[in-house]
Amino acid sequence: MRKEKVKGRTEETKGKVKQVAGKVGGNGAMEREGASQKNAGKNQAASGDEKKAAKSSSSPKAQGATALLRADHKIVNELFDEYEKTNIKSRKKSLVSQICAELTIHAQVEEEIFYPAMKEALKDKGLVPEAIVVHATLKDLIAAVEGAEPDGENFDAKIKVLSEYVKHHVKEEQNEMFPRARDSKLDMKELGAQMASRKEELLAERARRA
Ligand SMILES: [Fe+2]
Ligand SMILES: [Fe+2]
Repeated sequence: MRKEKVKGRTEETKGKVKQVAGKVGGNGAMEREGASQKNAGKNQAASGDEKKAAKSSSSPKAQGATALLRADHKIVNELFDEYEKTNIKSRKKSLVSQICAELTIHAQVEEEIFYPAMKEALKDKGLVPEAIVVHATLKDLIAAVEGAEPDGENFDAKIKVLSEYVKHHVKEEQNEMFPRARDSKLDMKELGAQMASRKEELLAERARRA
C-alpha cells in the first residue's frame, strides 16, 4: 500500500521530502511522502483551480493554495494517527518531532501568505483573526512537547490535546475558510506557488539549524 503511493512521486517532491526527513530525523519519511502525493492528487481534484493546477504540472508549486494546505493537514493527521498506534518511545519522539516541524512551518506559511490574502480578498474580520488566536495556542502546545521525552501518560495526554486542537482548527479551515477562498477572486494557483516557495525556504532554514 505504502509502496504504491510512493511510486507516483515526482523528483521534486522526493527531494523536498528527503530534506524534511533529514531535518526531523524521522523514520516516517516514506509515509509522509506517500501521503503527500496521494493527498495532493485527491485535493487537486477538489476544485476548478486545483484541477487546472494538477493538469499543468505535477510539481508541488503548481498546486492551488488550498490543495497545498489540505495536503499538509493530511500529513499531520496521519502522523498523529501513527503516534496513537505506537508504544515505542523512540518512534514517538521522532513522530512528535515531525509533527512539530510540520505544524510550525504550516502555521507560518498560513500567517505570512494565506491569511493576509484571505483577509484582504474577503474583507474578513472574523475567520482570520480567530485562526491567528488558535495558532497562538497551538504554538504553546507545541512548545510544551517539542524536544521533550515521551515519558508516559502525561506526555501522551499533551499529544492528544494537541491532536484534537489541530483537528478542530483544520475542520474550521477546510469547511469555512477554504470554500470562501475558492469562491473569491484570489488566484489560488499563484497563491499556492508563493506558499510552496516559502515552505521550501522554511524547510531549508530548519534543516540548516538542525
Ligand atoms: Fe491554520
Ligand atoms: Fe491549516
